[in-house]
Amino acid sequence: MDEKTLDEIISRYDSPSGRLLGILSDIQNEERYIPRESLEMLSGKLNVHLSQLYSLVTFYSFFSLEPVGDHRITVCMGTACHVKGAGEILRNLEELLGFPVGITEEKREPVTTDDNAFTLEIARCFGACSIAPVLRVDNNLYGYAKPEALPTILKEYGWRRDED
Ligand code: FES
Repeated sequence: MDEKTLDEIISRYDSPSGRLLGILSDIQNEERYIPRESLEMLSGKLNVHLSQLYSLVTFYSFFSLEPVGDHRITVCMGTACHVKGAGEILRNLEELLGFPVGITEEKREPVTTDDNAFTLEIARCFGACSIAPVLRVDNNLYGYAKPEALPTILKEYGWRRDED
């Protein structure tokens, strides 16, 4: 992110150092991830310690320090979701998106399809346990997720089966 864009984002906030989450969200929306250089620049501009910015970015699963695909799929693997079948949801998504099954849980970090269309990752509890199992695609939450509904959900984001 260039300095001018970052300045424009900061200028949206009356009290920038008190609105770090908003600024970080705007950076992420702009870049689809949070580049390390942007954190360094932000730290200098707002006089906020870099470690504080890193803590925020790593605490909230919404943020990513790595580039992600056009659509970001996050499967909740918290206890409630796990008990209600999140593992099967994850395995099915891996299969549908062409990843080796088990890679996401094994790596525990986002994986992105070769065409950059989808990033698949896991997180712990979205606070929506009553509708478990839950997955999120971009900013949309899907509760009571069932493996058989996944192709329909993915198609909303441009996914096509090879045979379609
Ligand atoms: S455990 Fe999945 S939303 Fe809480």
